[in-house]
Amino acid sequence: MSRAHIAPITKAIPAARQDDARHYGVHPYFTRRPANVMRAYLEHYSRPGDVVLDPFGGSGVIPIEAFLLGRRAIHNDLNPFANFIARNIADTTLPSVAPLRAAFERVRTACVGPLSEIERSEAAARRWLERLPLPTNIRLPQNSDAEFFYELFTPRQLAGLALIKQAIETAATGVVRDLLLLAWSASVAKLNKTFLSARGRAPSRGGSSIFSLYRYKVAARWVELPIWETFRGRFANVLAAKEEVLRLREYRRRRSGGGLPLDSRRDFQVLACAAAAPAPSPAGPPPPAEPAQVLAEVFDTCLANGRETFTSEALFNRLVLELWRRRALGCLNLDRRAFAEQLRRRGWDYNPRTHQWLRSPTHQPRSGEPLLFPESG
Ligand SMILES: C[S@@+](CC[C@H](N)C(=O)[O-])C[C@H]1O[C@@H](n2cnc3c(N)ncnc32)[C@H](O)[C@@H]1O
Repeated sequence: MSRAHIAPITKAIPAARQDDARHYGVHPYFTRRPANVMRAYLEHYSRPGDVVLDPFGGSGVIPIEAFLLGRRAIHNDLNPFANFIARNIADTTLPSVAPLRAAFERVRTACVGPLSEIERSEAAARRWLERLPLPTNIRLPQNSDAEFFYELFTPRQLAGLALIKQAIETAATGVVRDLLLLAWSASVAKLNKTFLSARGRAPSRGGSSIFSLYRYKVAARWVELPIWETFRGRFANVLAAKEEVLRLREYRRRRSGGGLPLDSRRDFQVLACAAAAPAPSPAGPPPPAEPAQVLAEVFDTCLANGRETFTSEALFNRLVLELWRRRALGCLNLDRRAFAEQLRRRGWDYNPRTHQWLRSPTHQPRSGEPLLFPESG
């Protein structure tokens, strides 16, 4: 997309429509961001009430902007952490930021004493590590500088992070807990041995190697940033973002005469989460099905929708969507040849002239014949 294309659109937005925009910035971190080209596009190409979908939403820049502009936003991402960020930043259910501030204070009270002990001595950090809950020490990818996860942290960092995480889990629930966990996750990105301080800037400025080099490269001389200060700084960003969302909600509420024009429960949907939450079954979860069986069932469901002709692409898209909806994409072990073979076995002929499949006039369905897919392997 060239600059020349962006400029006229940005200019074309009348001042009156930028009115709301003065009340919030751009996610992530909302404030101190350069001009919001995304917002300009959203305002130009959609109207309030329209549905805006970002199927690869990342941290949610587009759906959150769309939501704040009064569109019905649908966010999706393969990465559950991306969904977590977007959902919690967009959330408008808190009455105010007061419960968030209060929970942060509880975490601070629980952590400052032990943290100063941990930061003073590595021996103390090791002692704390023996009693704190830690995640599984998984093996890292082969191109990492460290073999196991814990080796990415100094004892102080590991103990400090575990301590704050434990305090968050005790001090808060629901969206307040999740917003604190968001600040905590952003702290993990700085409090580890792969954090590379930017040359010539404050030691806290820089990033983890995984985000720039796409591998866990341990810094030649790692920095140990102050643990609480780092968390406090990340929390300040999350708090500022939430304040801006809630301020905008109040502003819109006043302008609408008391309604709730900005309601994340109604207008901000995280697709992956909706798909991940199947309706509870009174009889308990069904037994796990074989991948080949699931694929056969979904294939037949997609076929049996009354169409007389269809293209391979149309059927394949339906298949992918249905498997995705059932969180069973892993069952899709089907190449072009096997795909065509399954259609022929079910009585469909391919017309290479129209590129359509249509019912075979000569097909004789044999009752009882199981139309199984080859086992995945
Ligand atoms: C470049 S980022 C998204 C940026 C975002 N749309 C924005 O405007 O800031 C691409 C995202 O796509 C996600 N992604 C990649 N493949 C995906 C898939 N098959 N389904 C859903 N999300 C996917 C990645 O996890 C990543 O967060």
